[in-house]
Amino acid sequence: MSPPPPDNGNRGCIFMVKSNNDLMIKNFLRGVSLKPVKVGVCGLGVVGSGTVNVLQRNAEQLKSRTGRSIQLVQIAARRPNPACDTADISVTSDVFDVAKNPEVDILIELIGGCDVALDLVNTAIENGKHVVTANKALIAEHGNEIFERARKKGVIVAYEASVAGAIPVVKALREGLVGNRINWLAGIINGTGNFILTKMKECDSPFAEVLEEAQQLGYAEADPTFDVEGIDAAHKLTILAANAFGTKLMFDETYTEGISRITPDDIRYAEELGYCIKHLGIAHQTNQGVELRVHPTLIPQTHLLARVDGVMNSVLINGDAAGQTMYYGPGAGSEPTASAVVADIADIARLLDAPDVLSGTSVPPLPYDAGQDDVITLSIEDIVAASYVRIRAKDHPGVLMKVTEVIGRHGINIDALLQKETRENDGMADIVLLTDKIREGVLIKALQVIAELDDVTGPVTHIRVEHLG
Ligand code: HSE
Repeated sequence: MSPPPPDNGNRGCIFMVKSNNDLMIKNFLRGVSLKPVKVGVCGLGVVGSGTVNVLQRNAEQLKSRTGRSIQLVQIAARRPNPACDTADISVTSDVFDVAKNPEVDILIELIGGCDVALDLVNTAIENGKHVVTANKALIAEHGNEIFERARKKGVIVAYEASVAGAIPVVKALREGLVGNRINWLAGIINGTGNFILTKMKECDSPFAEVLEEAQQLGYAEADPTFDVEGIDAAHKLTILAANAFGTKLMFDETYTEGISRITPDDIRYAEELGYCIKHLGIAHQTNQGVELRVHPTLIPQTHLLARVDGVMNSVLINGDAAGQTMYYGPGAGSEPTASAVVADIADIARLLDAPDVLSGTSVPPLPYDAGQDDVITLSIEDIVAASYVRIRAKDHPGVLMKVTEVIGRHGINIDALLQKETRENDGMADIVLLTDKIREGVLIKALQVIAELDDVTGPVTHIRVEHLG
């Protein structure tokens, strides 16, 4: 067994030891007198209570793994939460008490939203505190300024919990895949939306009915806009893309479309064509620029992402060296999200005595690389994708010919075609096409012409198709 290396400043170290031809990892903790790290939690809702529980339950293990004890010294909460025990912890109703508390080393922001949270995080940074947050809206929309402020103060702002709950996907991009040029990533990153699409498929039920069920089960909020219109997923995609491509955070340039217009007919027709509809966040580095888009997508039924059902999340990453790797797990929930929060706390705890905590961190607060400030993002009209198209039209002779004539005139190739009487049996039919890859701007023009045809009576919709190969 190798001897421990020379003392480098009272920090825990890991050595590889060889025993019976197997490599084993042995943790030598030196410096038993490391000062504890003191944590203040702001927000005692679902994630806040989970964080308190995990910190308390796994305190000994965390101490052993980080080399210091992690002490919860203050909680800011509007009301007590019976899901956790705060008996020995100072509780305040004002989150800014935590940001100003000289005892606190790390402020854990779990209040959500952008207004008070931004002020809180800024105050914590100004007071020299590291910050851990699960707030995707805050990071996606204000991260560029927050990281700059944190850099100037020499503190860390860590945000693993802001994307895909328990799945350590920010770490995967930042650390495990750091040697790769990321070509693209695609993820199911909104559990509520995935639950709704899964149920619509299983029960052949309309969107509104399943949304109500999701609300009753507590998955969807009373105002479900963020989840069902894709905004939540766009926040998460913004963060993933910045980490994948080394760019700044570009929420405003992310194309966002939700699932509210998907019908059980679309799901059924897609199935007949061998596809499944999933709501995906897609970030793609192309020669023309970066694509950032969140929208319902047809993917082959045989693809692994098609098996990700219910509220689960999954992210598929394509790197030039690793090829494709896929990450799966709960994207929300009390302890699953707390798992990511606590991982960030542990990272900071390990680095607290480093001479330059920022350069030592494994989760750098600034995600962008030099020279990536003027990155080009593609508008949705400029992406090239295959599409599923549904056209509701009169069920009489010659309609299909008129539709396909417009498609052909725009240089669009049809890969597959279905024509079905409507469920309502009202003399209408759904014409369903799968097109070859085409620039979206061209497809939209063709669909506008089709929508104007006399025989077309209902909506003309399209859903992008991705093979993710
Ligand atoms: N509302 C999110 C979802 C969970 O449904 O995935 C928190 O990010």
